[in-house]
Amino acid sequence: MGAVLTGVAGALAAYRAGDVGRARALAAESGTRLGAELATYWTDGTSGPVYDQPAAFTAFIRGGGNVELYRRLSEGLAARYDSWRPEAVLDVGCGDGLAIEPALAAATFQPSRIDLVEPSAALLSAVEVAGARRFPLTAQDFLGSDGSTWNLVQSTFAMQSIEPAARAEVLSELRSRTDRVVLAEFDVPEHADLASLAQRYERGVAEYGAQASLVAQGFLLPVLLGVAAGEARTNWEHPAAEWARQLEAAGFSSVTVDRLADYWWSPAVLITAS
Ligand SMILES: C[S@@+](CC[C@H](N)C(=O)[O-])C[C@H]1O[C@@H](n2cnc3c(N)ncnc32)[C@H](O)[C@@H]1O
Repeated sequence: MGAVLTGVAGALAAYRAGDVGRARALAAESGTRLGAELATYWTDGTSGPVYDQPAAFTAFIRGGGNVELYRRLSEGLAARYDSWRPEAVLDVGCGDGLAIEPALAAATFQPSRIDLVEPSAALLSAVEVAGARRFPLTAQDFLGSDGSTWNLVQSTFAMQSIEPAARAEVLSELRSRTDRVVLAEFDVPEHADLASLAQRYERGVAEYGAQASLVAQGFLLPVLLGVAAGEARTNWEHPAAEWARQLEAAGFSSVTVDRLADYWWSPAVLITAS
C-alpha cells in the first residue's frame, strides 16, 4: 500500500476516488492557494470548455512565466522563418495568435500564404495576421476537407490537445503535405505522482497574483483535474523523446529537439521534423 497522501495531493486522490466532500475538505485545510482554489472549484462547479470562453486562457498565456516563454517561442519561430523561408505556413491550433503574431513581426522573411486552423472561433477571431486564411475547425476536420500543402506547419502547445490516436493520423497526413513541422511542447516526465503535480501547479498558480483565481478556475484546474483526477482531459502530454517517436512513426525522418525555456510545469522544447 502507498503512503497516505496529505494536503492537495490527498485532495486529488480523494477526488479521483469519488469522495468529493473529503477532497473539498482536504483542499480547504491544506493552507495553500491551490487548495483554496480547488475547494472553490469543487463547490461552485466548472466553467465549461477551457478554450470556448477564453478569458482565463488568454490571461494565463499573457502572465507569469508565459511572458518569457512566449518571448523565446516567437524569437525561435522568427529565426526559423528567416532560415527556412517557408512560402506557405500553417499554424495548427493557433489560439489567439500569441505565438505567430510576434514571430512574424520579428522575422525579416514573410510567408506569402498563412493558414490558421483553430476550433475556438472566439480565439481565432482575435488573431491579427493580415491576409491569413482562417479555418475555425479542428486539425482533423480541416485536413479532411482541405487539400492544401505547406512548406512549414507549426503547432505551439496545441498538438497536446489532440488525443494520441487522432494525433497520429494528423501527423501522418501532415507528413505528405509539408516540408517541415515545428512543434512547441513541454518535456514532461513519463510518470508524475500527485505530490509532484500539486507542487508544480502551486508554483504555477502563485505566478498570477490578482488574476490567480480567474486563471485557476477557468484554465489551470480543469487541465490539472483532467491529468490527475479522472475528469475529461483537455490535453495529452509526453516526454520530448516520445514526441520525437510519434513524429518518426508518422514518417518524418529527421527530428531534432531544442530546449526553449525552463518553466514551472516542465521545460519547454521546440521539436523540428522533416
Ligand atoms: C494551449 S492552447 C495553444 C494556443 C496557441 N498555439 C498558443 O501557443 O498560444 C491549445 C490550442 O489548441 C486548440 N485545439 C484544441 N483541439 C484542437 C484540435 N483538435 N485541432 C486543432 N487545434 C486544437 C485549442 O482551441 C487551443 O487554442
